[in-house]
Amino acid sequence: MEYRRLGSSGLKVSALSFGAWVTFGQQIGEEVAAECMEAAYDAGVNFFDNAEVYAQGEAEIIMGRILKAKGWGRDTYAVSSKVFFGGRLPTQRGLHRKHIRDACDAALRRLQVDYLDLFFCHRPDADTPIEETVLAMNQLIQQGKILYWGTSEWSAAQIMTAEAVAREYHVQGPTMEQPEYNLFHREKVEGEFLPLYEEIGLGLTTWSPLASGLLTGKYLEGDPGNTRIHLKNYEWLKQRFESEEGQSMLEKVRRLRPLADNLGMTLAQFSLAWCASNPHVSTVITGASRPEQVRENMQAIDLVDRLTPEVLAAVEDIVRNKPAEPPRF
Ligand SMILES: NC(=O)c1ccc[n+]([C@@H]2O[C@H](COP(=O)([O-])OP(=O)(O)OC[C@H]3O[C@@H](n4cnc5c(N)ncnc54)[C@H](OP(=O)(O)O)[C@@H]3O)[C@@H](O)[C@H]2O)c1
Repeated sequence: MEYRRLGSSGLKVSALSFGAWVTFGQQIGEEVAAECMEAAYDAGVNFFDNAEVYAQGEAEIIMGRILKAKGWGRDTYAVSSKVFFGGRLPTQRGLHRKHIRDACDAALRRLQVDYLDLFFCHRPDADTPIEETVLAMNQLIQQGKILYWGTSEWSAAQIMTAEAVAREYHVQGPTMEQPEYNLFHREKVEGEFLPLYEEIGLGLTTWSPLASGLLTGKYLEGDPGNTRIHLKNYEWLKQRFESEEGQSMLEKVRRLRPLADNLGMTLAQFSLAWCASNPHVSTVITGASRPEQVRENMQAIDLVDRLTPEVLAAVEDIVRNKPAEPPRF
């Protein structure tokens, strides 16, 4: 495994990490979840990603039980939660001081840990002043309940505003952002965020590196069955895969396959290695519904070097979605 600094912080996270969305508490049982986490940990993963909303808290409960049962030293891994999508009541959601405090305490209880290494604002909250959120996050840091705070799916402007507020109050700004990043989704990571890496040392923990499985190539010969698109509440994903846009993505996956084949990699490994080949990415958060997938995926980090400039150029020819650099002032 390779370890990378989380932005300009001193924390080194594994370049591939492991998250619980969709799978824990919905798709797989606790035994399989434990096998997946163990396969990841054995491969050197030191960051496990979670959120209050994943399976309405159940994903954190399961992860907490597994962490406890495995008995891994608390100093050997980092674990996260995310706040925003709590309950239905106005007191139970958003980024106001009350919900930030309540969500953190609840995540600590569910995960059975004394502190969260990373705590994310899962989405921006237009109804809460950024000052309130920045200061609430810093209060948690001062209380020792979280170590680093960050954002997820915020715009560059929102992140810069949070950073400016933090500087004004001489407190900690966002250390990391969690954006979607894969061969089909590059706008923020390779475009909008470019100035932020240097200016504020922003780290990235990126999500859905396989576009929910599309980039593994397993949908190329039709519906393989027994995947996340068949889960209750994920009909939207099935519709997306079947849409015109989904079909055009599949066509690109079909053309990417020979590139992966020529390098002796599976398409999943190729797509993960492509994400990890971006030096601004601190960690690629992977997901899996089976331990075999974890074992296959984790090998990707040793294969990144095979993505030579020629291979990357061939990828660009196929995906044709490289974002334009934002103007610098
Ligand atoms: N901040 C956010 O808003 C946000 C949003 C989404 C996710 N995330 C984080 O990012 C993590 C990863 O996201 P993701 O699960 O969507 O990642 P992904 O890599 O796009 O999809 C993972 C899924 O692809 C399939 N898969 C994985 N490896 C495979 C392999 N080698 N061969 C065949 N199929 C394979 C599995 O689904 P099947 O069961 O269908 O086979 C697996 O669950 C989440 O767990 C979460 O921690 C964050």
